[in-house]
Amino acid sequence: MQYSEQVNKLILDRFSSQFLDFRQNIHSRDVASKKLTPLSIEFPVQGMDFETLDTFIKNKVQPSLSASNGGRYWGFVTGGANPIATYADWLVTTFNQNVSKGGDSIASALEQQTINWLCQLFELPDTYKGLFTTGATAANLLSAFTARQFAGRQQGIDVTKQGMNGLQVKVMSATPHASMIKSLGMAGFGQNNWQTIECNANSESMNVEALAKALNDCAEQSKVVIASAATVTGSDYDDLVAISALCKKYQAWLHVDAAFGIFERLISGKNGKTKGLELADSITLDCHKWLNVPYDCGVFLTKHVSLLQECCEFMAPYLTTSENEIPFMSLGVENSRRFRAFPVWATLMFYGREGIKANIESNMRQADMLASWIKKSTKFDLVKPCELNIVLFKPNLAVMNISSAECLNKLNSSGEVFLTPGRWKGQPIIRAALSNWSTTNDDVKKVITILEKL
Ligand SMILES: Cc1ncc(COP(=O)(O)O)c(C=O)c1O
Repeated sequence: MQYSEQVNKLILDRFSSQFLDFRQNIHSRDVASKKLTPLSIEFPVQGMDFETLDTFIKNKVQPSLSASNGGRYWGFVTGGANPIATYADWLVTTFNQNVSKGGDSIASALEQQTINWLCQLFELPDTYKGLFTTGATAANLLSAFTARQFAGRQQGIDVTKQGMNGLQVKVMSATPHASMIKSLGMAGFGQNNWQTIECNANSESMNVEALAKALNDCAEQSKVVIASAATVTGSDYDDLVAISALCKKYQAWLHVDAAFGIFERLISGKNGKTKGLELADSITLDCHKWLNVPYDCGVFLTKHVSLLQECCEFMAPYLTTSENEIPFMSLGVENSRRFRAFPVWATLMFYGREGIKANIESNMRQADMLASWIKKSTKFDLVKPCELNIVLFKPNLAVMNISSAECLNKLNSSGEVFLTPGRWKGQPIIRAALSNWSTTNDDVKKVITILEKL
């Protein structure tokens, strides 16, 4: 297909029709699709014309997608793509910049500015440097690499260049996210080779006294502490002030996974639940969660950018740059990189701090509305008070003869809502996480009606 003004117009026309169709119907379609089997199509030896392809996508692909971009997809921690970020994301593809290094475009400078703005948004000092990643998992992986390099430096080993070489390091955490454990495996620490620190009562947060003892008893020369702000099930926050003081005392690396919990800082500032976050050596956060920008978009921040650079830099003659700033390809996994900072930049420009805060507040009120109804209901038990945007509940077995798994299945197959499972104190529960900009109070009422009818 040759580009011409006419072809461009046709593509734009079909695109806007697909877009309007998908967006306008998102509230009435099934939240989780029931059609999951692959489409029966032969491998295309000869391509098809664009109009046939467009019709095929509209009739066969679109109807089988989930409404994860809508207001009642409450599984995992799923943000929607806000309209401005959606617009900016189309432009990212149109512009198709490769943000590997500077020198030919303003894109690197814009990514840098967006990282600085995120630090301002979350009241973090400008000593943090970082980059956009594909998500919180990739950011956690970079944290594991950087912590490993830090431990190596403590022991006179350049792990990036020499390999582990007998590195002695103990990783400690209370309730790390699954992606952090995955990252520990990928970075060579071992998925099963970390020390579990006891939690506080009725919480997933770390018991600071237990951490103090573990650090004191630790025989390994280097220590890494992984803290949470907040945990994905209980939305519990570790005491970062106390933990960072211990890390300082024992020269341990402190990483904080604040993928979605960092947004609480917009409500209570730096003295709220995330107090002490600014003391961490590195931080993970996710923009495709509560900032409501399209997938995939996370951020890794560290105060030790030279260690990160040591982990990720490998220059070839064709890659050299004359820029003063460290090229982004020397700070992350990928060399070629999407301009994923741009939808975040546009979101910050359009909504500003106040607009983003209003969205967080709205989701928190809605989560509270759901939790208050569950608390009063005889059919369901509220597993723990809702403090952020996550509601944990289960069927009351004395009234309803149904397990949490069966209940979850019924709710999800209603097509009205999508929720995911969790475990609380070893028991299966149902978890709702409200993080979408387009969720309305009517959405919450609709789900309450489904729960009532169950
Ligand atoms: C605390 C925390 N860390 C990491 C992740 C992984 O995020 P992603 O799926 O963006 O890699 C999540 C996802 O829910 C999370 O809640």
